Amino acid sequence: MGLQHLLPSTILSLLCVNILFITESQAQLGNSAVINISPTLSNAAAASTMDSSFLGYSLEHNAVPNFAKSQIMVNLMNIWKSKTGVLPSVRIGGAAMDKTTYVPNFRTQPVMWVATPASEYWVGPSYFTLVKNYFPSDTRITFGLNLVNSTGNWSNSVQFAVEAKKNIPQVDLFEIGNEPDLYVGSNQRKKGWTGKEYAEEWKFVANRVKEVLPNAQFQPAVFASSLKDGFDLSSLIAAGINRNQYNIPSYSLHFYPQSACSSIPNLNNLVDHSLLGQLLQKFNPEIAAAESSGSRFTLAESNSVSCSGFNGVSDTFASALWLVDYALTAATKNIERIYFHNGPTTPYSLFIPRAASGLKAGIRPISFGVYFLAEALALPAQGSTTKFLVSPLSVPDDQSDIVVYGLYSNKVQKPDLDVIGTTTFVYTTAIPTTRAIVHTDKSQTLISVSTKMIIRSVSTSTRSSTSTRIVTVTKSTNTTKRTTVRMTSTTTRSSVSSGKTTIWRVTLVSTKTTTVTVPTTTQSRSTSRTVITSLSRSTFWTSQRTTITKTVERATPLLSTSYTTYTTNRAVTSTNTKATIKPQPTDIGDFPMNDGIFLARAVILNLSPHNTSDARVLSCRSCAGPSPAGYGSTGERSSTSVTLKGFQPNHRLKLIRLRGPGLNAKSGITVSGIIFNEDTGTLKNTAVPESVNVDKTGAVGFRISASEAVLLVDEKVV
Ligand SMILES: *[C@@H]1O[C@H](CO)[C@@H](O)[C@H](O)[C@H]1NC(C)=O
Ligand SMILES: *[C@@H]1O[C@H](CO)[C@@H](O)[C@H](O)[C@H]1NC(C)=O
Ligand SMILES: *[C@@H]1O[C@H](CO)[C@@H](O)[C@H](O)[C@H]1NC(C)=O
Ligand SMILES: *[C@@H]1O[C@H](CO)[C@@H](O)[C@H](O)[C@H]1NC(C)=O
Repeated sequence: MGLQHLLPSTILSLLCVNILFITESQAQLGNSAVINISPTLSNAAAASTMDSSFLGYSLEHNAVPNFAKSQIMVNLMNIWKSKTGVLPSVRIGGAAMDKTTYVPNFRTQPVMWVATPASEYWVGPSYFTLVKNYFPSDTRITFGLNLVNSTGNWSNSVQFAVEAKKNIPQVDLFEIGNEPDLYVGSNQRKKGWTGKEYAEEWKFVANRVKEVLPNAQFQPAVFASSLKDGFDLSSLIAAGINRNQYNIPSYSLHFYPQSACSSIPNLNNLVDHSLLGQLLQKFNPEIAAAESSGSRFTLAESNSVSCSGFNGVSDTFASALWLVDYALTAATKNIERIYFHNGPTTPYSLFIPRAASGLKAGIRPISFGVYFLAEALALPAQGSTTKFLVSPLSVPDDQSDIVVYGLYSNKVQKPDLDVIGTTTFVYTTAIPTTRAIVHTDKSQTLISVSTKMIIRSVSTSTRSSTSTRIVTVTKSTNTTKRTTVRMTSTTTRSSVSSGKTTIWRVTLVSTKTTTVTVPTTTQSRSTSRTVITSLSRSTFWTSQRTTITKTVERATPLLSTSYTTYTTNRAVTSTNTKATIKPQPTDIGDFPMNDGIFLARAVILNLSPHNTSDARVLSCRSCAGPSPAGYGSTGERSSTSVTLKGFQPNHRLKLIRLRGPGLNAKSGITVSGIIFNEDTGTLKNTAVPESVNVDKTGAVGFRISASEAVLLVDEKVV
C-alpha cells in the first residue's frame, strides 16, 4: 500500500506513528540538530519497500551503438550489482523509438540515420545482436516501439517487437510510443488527438503484438507528464489499458525538475528539497491509479534538466546530492524505479562512454550519487534476501536544510542489546541441509536451506541465601552455700530431798555454722547465621535458518529434479564479543526489547548550499566546460552537529560520506575515498568508511558539512 492512498490528514498521523521527526534545534547550540528516528517501524505496511534495482539507465535506440563501444556502462552496472545483488534495469527507446523503422535486409550497421524520404533511423538485425551481447544476461530491458508511424497498421512496429523479443533474451517490457501527450504539439498527430485516441491506437498495436507474443509485457503511458487532455493514468485505465486486458507490471511517466528548453536552469533550485517535494506531488493521483489497478508506477525517463541537460547544473556535484534526495523521496512515495536518461555527449549524462564532440570519456559527478545510493541499498551479506523499507521523512522548521530518511530491514528480528564481555563458545551443532536441484532447459536453480543453532546470549546470575539457627544449651552446676544450723539437747536430772523427788528437765540450745552443697541448672541460647552464595549461568539459543537460491545458466537443456537431504555434525566456535550482561532498563531508556522491524540505516543530507572558488575543481575530464568562476561561498563552510537517536544502544555504525568541494564543483568528489577509473568505469579502490559509536541511550553524534550526505549503516541489523 502506498501513502498516496491516504487522505492528507491520515498521512500526517502516519508520520507521527512512524516517529521520524526532529525534536528541536536549539539556537544557542549554533548549527545543531537533534533527530529522533523510531528504532522500529510499527506500521511496516504503510512504508514503501525500495527495490534493489531502484536505479535504471535510459538510452535512445540510436545511441546504443555509441554506448556499446565502451565498457563503462556495463562496469558501472556491475558496481551497483556488487553492492545490491541486482543489476540496474535498462530502458532503450526514448524519443528515437518514434523515429525507428525496422529494416530486415539492412545489414551494414546496427542503426543508421537516413534523411529521405523522411528523417528516421533504420535498424537492422545486427542491432539485436549488439544489444544482446553488450548487456549482461540478467539485465532487464524495456524496449521502445514506434507509435507515430502508423503505416500499414503499425505492422513494422509489430515486426520489430517480435524480432526483438526473439533475438534479445533480456527484453522484459515493451513501450509503445514516447511522450504521446506531446504528439499534437510536435505535429505528429492532428489537433484534437487526445488520451482517448492514444488509448485506441495503443491497444491496436498491443493487441497485434499479443497475437504473436501472448506473454508480452507492456509499460504503457510513457507520458511527458503534462497530465492534460486525458493523458493521465486514471483515464488510461478506464479506457482499458489495464491489468485485466494486458500484462502491465508498471506504468511510466517522465520527470525533469527543470528544463533547458523553456527557462534557464538553476543550480541552487536543484538541491531545494521542498521544491522537489512540491514538483513530485503531481504524481500522487497517478501513483494511486497505477496501484489501484494492481500495477506499479515508474519514472522510466528522468534527469535533472529536460532537453539534454544543462552545463553547470546537470554536470556538477549538486546533481549527485539531488539524485540521492530525489531517489529516496520517490521511494517513500512507492515509486518503483527511476531510469536516468543519457546521451553519448549530453550535459546530463551520468558518464561519457567514449570521446566524442570534443568531450573525453569519463565519470560525471552524478555517478557518485549513484554509488552512494548503492551503498545505502547494499545487501547486509551476500545472498541476503533483505529489502529495505523507507520511512517517510520530515524536515524541522528551523533546520530545513537537513533531510533524513530511515531505512528499515524488512526482517523481523531481535534487538541486540548485550553489552559487556567476551566469551568463546565451542559447541556441536547438527546442520541439516536440503538441496533441491532443478534442471530446466535454460537455467539451473540451487536452493540450499541450512539451520544452525547459535548462541543468542548467556546470562550469569548470583544468588545469596541466609539461614539462621538457634541452639539452646542446658548446664548443671553445684554451688556451695553457708548456713547456720540450730541444735538442741535435752537432759533430765533428779534429786531426792525430804522424801520428795524433784525432776528437772534441762534443754540446752546451741547454734553451729556449716557449709552445704546446692545443685543448680542454667540454660543458655546461641544463634548461628549461615550465608550461602550460588552462581548460575544460562545460555539462550536461537536457530538461524539460511536459504540461498542460486541460478546457474546451463548450456545443455535438461529436465529433471532431485533433492538430497543430509545432516552433518560440526563443531562450531563462536566468539561472542558483546556478551553476557543485559543492560539495565535504566540505561537504555524506552528502547524496545521485543522483536521488530529495526532501523538498519539512515541517510542524512545537509542541503545548505556551499560553492567552492577553487578553479581546479570547477571542471571535469568529461564535462563540456568549467562552472563559472566567482561563485565561491564566502566564509568557512558551515557544518551541523547532528545527534540522531534510534539506533540500537552500544552498536558501532559504519559512516559513509558523499563529499564534494561545493555544489558547483565538477571534480574532487568522492564517496568515502572511492576513485573511478575514468577510462573504464571500474573502481580503483574501495570505500573507507568512518565508524561512530551509538551510546547506551541509542544516540549517535556526527558532523555533516553544508552540501554533503551521510549514510549510517548498522551492519548487525540484517
Ligand atoms: C514509416 O514506416 C514505413 C515502414 O512501415 C517506412 O517505409 C517509412 O519510411 C516510415 N516513415 C517515417 C516517417 O518514418
Ligand atoms: C488496418 O486495420 C483495420 C482494422 O482492423 C482494417 O480494416 C484494415 O484493412 C487494416 N489495413 C491494413 C493495410 O492492414
Ligand atoms: C553435685 O553433687 C552431687 C551430690 O554430691 C553429685 O552427685 C553431682 O555429680 C555433683 N554435680 C556436679 C556438676 O559437680
Ligand atoms: C553556486 O554557483 C553557481 C554557479 O556555478 C551559482 O549559480 C549559484 O547561485 C551559486 N550558489 C550559491 C549558494 O552561491
